[in-house]
Amino acid sequence: MKSRPIRDGIEWMGSIDWERRLFDELIPIPDGTSYNAYLVRGSEKTALIDTADPAKSEEILKQLDAVDRLDVLIIQHVEQDHSGTAPQIVKRYPDVQVVSSPKAKPMISDHLGIPEERILAVEDGATLSLGDRTFEFIHAPWVHWPETMLTYLREEKILFTCDLFGSHLATNDLFAVDRPRVCEAAKRYFAEIMMPFSNLIVGHLEKLSPYEIEMICPSHGPIHDDPGFILDAYRHWVLDPPKNLVVLPYTSMHDSTARMVDHLIEALTERGVHVESFHMSKTDLGAYAIHLVDAATVVFATPTVLVGPHPSIVFAAYLTAALRPKLRHAAVIGSYGWAGKAAEKTQDLCGTLKAEWFDPIFTKGLPTEETYKALDALADEIASRHQDLE
Ligand code: FEO
Repeated sequence: MKSRPIRDGIEWMGSIDWERRLFDELIPIPDGTSYNAYLVRGSEKTALIDTADPAKSEEILKQLDAVDRLDVLIIQHVEQDHSGTAPQIVKRYPDVQVVSSPKAKPMISDHLGIPEERILAVEDGATLSLGDRTFEFIHAPWVHWPETMLTYLREEKILFTCDLFGSHLATNDLFAVDRPRVCEAAKRYFAEIMMPFSNLIVGHLEKLSPYEIEMICPSHGPIHDDPGFILDAYRHWVLDPPKNLVVLPYTSMHDSTARMVDHLIEALTERGVHVESFHMSKTDLGAYAIHLVDAATVVFATPTVLVGPHPSIVFAAYLTAALRPKLRHAAVIGSYGWAGKAAEKTQDLCGTLKAEWFDPIFTKGLPTEETYKALDALADEIASRHQDLE
């Protein structure tokens, strides 16, 4: 794709990756993604903000054929989907000044092989003039690595944010015109990438509040020409209390656990509690992560495999703890054949989860009347804890 104008002297560059379905060999991206870079021309200097994934280098390098002189290359975040073409750009423009946060400077050298002497480290709040246009750099660690910074173009009131406020969405809409689709993709992105850093994002949102922002240009997905939409969404995701929602990741091998899951869903439904269940051997992990943004309770349901939880629930438990959602309550239910420690081991995997654990409920073989009564009691407990939640 050719570069596309955003405003006078400001262009979108990069690549739309229609085919990619997995990020970091871990994160499902069912709608593809884009790697956005931005060319900003000033009266004296021209700058490029971010680059593109190495797999798409050719595309951005071709777009840069129309740029005779590049004075500044800003690397806001060192992860290779944004910085991966920087080495070729530095080679093509031998005089270009690479600009990054101080933390990024050695990382650029480590990960991209660009010598540190080529890099100007800018402090939080530092400015850089292109002549009639001025960048201000805003350090924003952990969105999504520790070295990340944002770039504010003062005269145009445009904020460039790299991963923050982005979405894995391949579309030729330059701007976020399809709100429901962008909102869903942005929420998936938040859940998968940003949620572990929610506490820090609260601080970043406060730090950004004095800035007048007319446009947010992330380095994945469409540009936000109505930034209030994405800023409000982030405020809800990081600040709102959890909702009246139970997420129920489960797997069943010989139907015992599945029968317990069915019973618990029915019991919670009768008590007015919303449930989203996910068969972890088949589900899209991103869909599970999206619901963790709002859930107040998680119930892991697992058969016992070699004394512990089923491997798909091991993964679910590990992932749940790693994403650090707002969960207030948690439980483990399931089944075993002769012996096991699936409940304890599942809880151990969730060591960092700050949630109140209900007593586990396990059945030997098929669930009995006693099992169903215990599940009803668990549903009572959950409903009572959720009674004030929307
Ligand atoms: Fe899109 Fe953290 O890279």
